Amino acid sequence: MKAAPSTFHVKSFGCQMNAYDGDRMAELLEAEGMAQADADAADLVVLNTCHIREKAAEKVYSDIGRLMKRRGGAAAPMIAVAGCVAQAEGAEIPRRAPQVDIVVGPQAYHNLPALVRQAARGERALDTDMPLLSKFGALPARRRQGPSAFLTVQEGCDKFCTYCVVPYTRGAEISRPFAAIVEEAKALVDAGAKEITLLGQNVNAWAEEEKGLDHLIRALDALPGLRRIRYTTSHPNDMTEGLIRAHAEVEALMPYLHLPVQSGSDRVLKAMNRSHDAASYLRIIEQVRAARPDIAVSGDFIVGFPGETDEDFEATLRIVEAVNYAQAFSFKYSARPGTPAAGMEDQVPAPVMDERLQRLQALLGRQQLAFNQASVGRRTSILLERPGRKPGQKIGKTPRLQSVHLETDAAIGELIEVELLSAGPNSLAGAALVRQAA
Ligand code: 5AD
Ligand code: SF4
Repeated sequence: MKAAPSTFHVKSFGCQMNAYDGDRMAELLEAEGMAQADADAADLVVLNTCHIREKAAEKVYSDIGRLMKRRGGAAAPMIAVAGCVAQAEGAEIPRRAPQVDIVVGPQAYHNLPALVRQAARGERALDTDMPLLSKFGALPARRRQGPSAFLTVQEGCDKFCTYCVVPYTRGAEISRPFAAIVEEAKALVDAGAKEITLLGQNVNAWAEEEKGLDHLIRALDALPGLRRIRYTTSHPNDMTEGLIRAHAEVEALMPYLHLPVQSGSDRVLKAMNRSHDAASYLRIIEQVRAARPDIAVSGDFIVGFPGETDEDFEATLRIVEAVNYAQAFSFKYSARPGTPAAGMEDQVPAPVMDERLQRLQALLGRQQLAFNQASVGRRTSILLERPGRKPGQKIGKTPRLQSVHLETDAAIGELIEVELLSAGPNSLAGAALVRQAA
């Protein structure tokens, strides 16, 4: 039996929503009187896991092993496995790793303090419920904050792409109520946030009655002190006219759109159950660019989906050429237990996937570098987010989400004007422009 913890450490893997959940778990534990500590010293370690690709579950077990080893003879911490692996594996986790005291799914983590008390009594503490009433109402108000904050507005997915585990780990699509979101946004701005990124697995499917995400964005735009609004991740089918218009009309809405297409082959898109095709995706991009010509477009790609031929893969290269991405994320297909695609015939051999991924990433890398290089010489605003490695150096983001390194006395959290001086594939160097007296 382990004593009731007085310190904790939360380690989040995977997507931005997991980062958000990790912050909220930390706030919850702080509200219980616990203090944050390093993983090596904390009484309670929460591993907030991801299940989207590869051997995520295996990684959890090896992480636990490494943690125990690093701590050597020190008292073993209480270990909680949270997130999507917890949801998918449930009671299997403590069976395989008896050191694990708590298993808690992404829709149940508001119960974490109760689970900790249960574990401290030596009881098995497992909660992978997906309650009808969402967890959000049971969480304490937002407190922890930097200049750029995440805010989950929509969760879960009803689209059932055949490769994807999200509908099973995060559950059905829900939109948080408008009033609760605005209240949380206000609390974040009061705590110093200048930028808010609205999160959802299908964030542009957010709706309340007749109102869509554009309505929410316009309401947040009215909050004094909130200078930048972003949203991610969007599905092509929920890219409404109203949302596209917001890109033309709402100044605080940043010119960046993450719109995954996954493949450029209509045959593969059909097998993925994406319910859009290459042409309809390209039409959306065209409309978005007509509304906001300088918008940076990013995407996600999967290579080696079951049955993908050389010809299908060439179609993916063609759509990448047609769109010209500012940034992109590309992955080898990974069979997820329980998803329809995992049982499909014609799984693509690993060396073929490797070769396709390399070719795709080379093309996307060239596009990303060209996009950054085309920004050199421009003046733009950046939001300073964190110190850089060198003394005096700080790192900020442009409206189009490029990282900029520069030397400046301005404080983290300030929005400053810079000139972009040089570009690499992943970041740019800039110089602060002298601030004019107002
Ligand atoms: N295999 C590989 N990549 C996947 N993604 C989602 N599921 C899988 C899978 N089974 C990718 C998609 C998605 C991103 C978050 O992860 O590209 O948009
Ligand atoms: Fe990973 Fe998806 Fe869960 Fe995010 S929602 S942690 S990407 S499995």
